[in-house]
Amino acid sequence: MLIAQLSDPHVMAPGQRAFGRIDTAALLEQAVARLLRVEPRPDVVLLTGDLADGGAPAPYRELRRLLAPLPMPVYLLPGNHDNRQELRAAFPEADYLRQDPDFLHFDLDLGACRLLALDSLLPGSINGELCERRLAWTAARLEEAPDKPVIMAIHHPPFTTGLAKMDDYGLTRGGTELAAIVARHPRVERLLCGHLHRPIQVRWAGTLAMTAPSTAHQMSLDLRPDAPLTMHLEPPGFLLHQWIEGQGLVSHLLPTGAFEGPLPLGGAH
Ligand SMILES: [Fe+2]
Repeated sequence: MLIAQLSDPHVMAPGQRAFGRIDTAALLEQAVARLLRVEPRPDVVLLTGDLADGGAPAPYRELRRLLAPLPMPVYLLPGNHDNRQELRAAFPEADYLRQDPDFLHFDLDLGACRLLALDSLLPGSINGELCERRLAWTAARLEEAPDKPVIMAIHHPPFTTGLAKMDDYGLTRGGTELAAIVARHPRVERLLCGHLHRPIQVRWAGTLAMTAPSTAHQMSLDLRPDAPLTMHLEPPGFLLHQWIEGQGLVSHLLPTGAFEGPLPLGGAH
């Protein structure tokens, strides 16, 4: 089982650019093209939020167009820039987005694993939250199928990263409770997050948690406590998570862009 995790594409309406300059559609197109060259081909694609900017129908139609070349199942998770109703409306065939009338959390079988995707959206806010009902849903799902490893996903990381402004814009409710739930279930193999627009790993609640880069713009790596929120157009990318029987989940970072290689090194390195 090979899972590609794309995050924070921030697709705009056709012809619009993020911050007036970043062609997020072209950058998602680049990520999709790279994904299609991965061999063996990923079995599923998971997008960890901030799918489309603005909450209107047009960016979601554009997102759908950009994801259409992917032949494998694609699973969409909302972020703070998303709108639940518009997301559902743009993907009417996506039954997994209709497991709950109020939230876009879902659980699915992924071969040897289960995917448990949480909805941390708090409409109108950059911050995220997990209310009592979403926490109860998560706890109940973890009580089920106790023999299967779980890959959990959420847009807002429930941990701090040292990127001060993004930590301010984090999960403001439910993070401690989620950590307590996960700590009771050692079979949670990984927590996959978005929101940070750069790859970060941390041990959290007894499991390994990580954030994905954006397929578009990256948050600046500035660890000063008073650092302003800025972005860099560093090479974007996505994560590839491979389930290896007897080992567990092995995660790779794949930058997207034009890079030379493979180089003929004749066996030396
Ligand atoms: Fe984002």
